[in-house]
Amino acid sequence: MPIDSDSISSSVILPDEKKIFFKHIRKENLHTLSGYESVGGYSSLKKAFAMPPDQIIDEVKKSALRGRGGAGFPTGSKWGFVPFDSGKPIYLLCNADESEPGTFKDRVILEKNPHSLIEGIIVSSFAVRCHKSYIYIRGEYVHAGKIVEKAIAEAYAKGYLGKNILGSGHDLEVVLHRGAGAYICGEETGLISSLEGKKGYPKLKPPFPAISGFLGCPTVVNNVETLCAVPWIIENGAEAYTQYGKGQSKGTKLFSISGWVKTPGTYEVEMGISLKAFIDECAGGMKNGAKLKAVIPGGSSTPPLTASEVDVACLDYESMLKFGTFLGSGGVIVVSEHQCLLKLLEHLAEFYWDESCGQCTPCREGTGWLYKMIKKIGRGEATSADLESLKKTAKSMMGTTICALSDAAAMPVLGFINKFPEEFQAHLDQKGCPMKQCGGSAH
Ligand SMILES: Cc1cc2nc3c(=O)[nH]c(=O)nc-3n(C[C@H](O)[C@H](O)[C@H](O)COP(=O)(O)O)c2cc1C
Repeated sequence: MPIDSDSISSSVILPDEKKIFFKHIRKENLHTLSGYESVGGYSSLKKAFAMPPDQIIDEVKKSALRGRGGAGFPTGSKWGFVPFDSGKPIYLLCNADESEPGTFKDRVILEKNPHSLIEGIIVSSFAVRCHKSYIYIRGEYVHAGKIVEKAIAEAYAKGYLGKNILGSGHDLEVVLHRGAGAYICGEETGLISSLEGKKGYPKLKPPFPAISGFLGCPTVVNNVETLCAVPWIIENGAEAYTQYGKGQSKGTKLFSISGWVKTPGTYEVEMGISLKAFIDECAGGMKNGAKLKAVIPGGSSTPPLTASEVDVACLDYESMLKFGTFLGSGGVIVVSEHQCLLKLLEHLAEFYWDESCGQCTPCREGTGWLYKMIKKIGRGEATSADLESLKKTAKSMMGTTICALSDAAAMPVLGFINKFPEEFQAHLDQKGCPMKQCGGSAH
């Protein structure tokens, strides 16, 4: 699977020298300490350690960096909520669980550039006065896990981790923790429960983790990509970072793109570029000349865009909101005219049913109902009353549970019904799937 594209030169393709994450991604031994140091790796530490921690937080605030895990919360503000004088240890948890269908951008950093994450953790931990950090990595990322483990060992051996890093007086221990294959453990409070050795059950907020998180202590949870942006911001300054992007969406962003495109992969682009140009120029456009039917822009939890919306939408937070969807975790899924949307939704609904932790009734029961009703419509056994019931069930799942998995399951269902009503109607009218893709028995 390609990482970026160097074969095409066009307006939305970011030249390598302007990239923040992927500037050296093709370098053979970038994942090793010597490879990373040879391209200037760990050089932000000197500058960071010379700054008061609050100044680092201010710089991150000024950069307008927003969390890349899905919610887009401003990173500097999140750090600013931590009570630094509580007398309790402060933890920094790196969310490397990356289990949202369609999203595989953190994996590239973990496998190809793990030291950039460690550098991001060191600078961020210094800013938030943390001396113990955990990287919670998706269990299925076995290969990435081995690479990160080795990188941590190298960083300890070179004195980038441990006591008195580079004579700064800052101590930091970093521990790699492997998940066991549960999407819910990517939700920050589910992640915390899992790390505490309990079932990965999300917890009610407030209190937010920044106040009371891991072991009841102040805890910052940040996504891999978010943390990796921090050293660049400190080295180059917030102003340089805000030169990228537009509006409330600054910087560059990694997008994974999959589905009916010629060159699926992970690409770094400037925020705010045209989605259509991203698909055409970075991912090579539609495979076999097929017509684009829909795009899920930000991972499987985000409502879809129609083909005409794709023509005008941009890859930034505000543009996505205008079209009733979200940038999410940056997992662009391209759907062609040859694919039945009911079948697609059936797969997604089954995923959410399987991954619901079962704590909250609307989610535990609702996800199963969504799956069964979608399957029923797909097989041509449903009536318009069933379609209404599907909508009602999905609506009842929004904002009624401890975490957002329930919303994540319901939003695409409502989005597809709202934007592609004819496809649902065709299954009802023709008493089956017009494309002969839905079928099988519901369980
Ligand atoms: C069901 C669910 C799954 C999630 N999975 C992930 C994940 O795999 N990786 C991630 O970074 N954030 C995930 N999140 C978002 C986290 O709860 C949290 O917002 C994020 O880690 C914060 O980091 P950020 O501010 O750097 O984005 C998930 C949220 C939900 C509701």
